[in-house]
Amino acid sequence: MGNIKESKVITCEKCQSLVASRNQIVNGAGKIDAEVLFIGEGPGKEEDLSGKPFMGRSGKVLDRSLENNGIKRSGIRITNCVRCRPEGNRNPSKEELFNCKGHLYEEIHIVDPGLIVTLGKVSSEHLLGREVKVTEESGKIELIDISGTMRSLLICIHPAATLYNPKQKIIFESTIAKVSEWIMMKKLPGMDYDD
Ligand code: URA
Repeated sequence: MGNIKESKVITCEKCQSLVASRNQIVNGAGKIDAEVLFIGEGPGKEEDLSGKPFMGRSGKVLDRSLENNGIKRSGIRITNCVRCRPEGNRNPSKEELFNCKGHLYEEIHIVDPGLIVTLGKVSSEHLLGREVKVTEESGKIELIDISGTMRSLLICIHPAATLYNPKQKIIFESTIAKVSEWIMMKKLPGMDYDD
């Protein structure tokens, strides 16, 4: 089992505008050798303040859905495509995504997950390298090559998309249910919410 080289990430100053807008760098959190790795877009205000991914409203939606599906947050890992909050919660630019890709790929290599779940369009397109219609494609599993290793990737809509849209909520819930099915199929120990 490896360790994320936090210092390398913490001292990163590649993106001038993100260095200016961030309070701190938000690294991935959760189990270091998790079988399931969720990847969001980038930290928002709450994450920038707390230093942990998915702590605000999107995080609450995700937490509720994980709990409904018997998945412990402590049994998975959650990270983001970029580790610094873009000002005004704008989407990270192509250059910022590119600059942070090394940190993300290193984390994927260390965690070595059996399943990657991309939350939202930015994350799905960043990992798959193609246009993704997330509402239509949420729930789809694809095999992707990440640094020479083939990995399963499940496309999922972003939890924030469910906040004002009941249809998106249904899609989100059914996609998280697929994560639970995948875990059951693998019969992974320690993943049940009640154990
Ligand atoms: N949205 C994301 O994509 N990531 C977070 O960490 C929080 C909100």
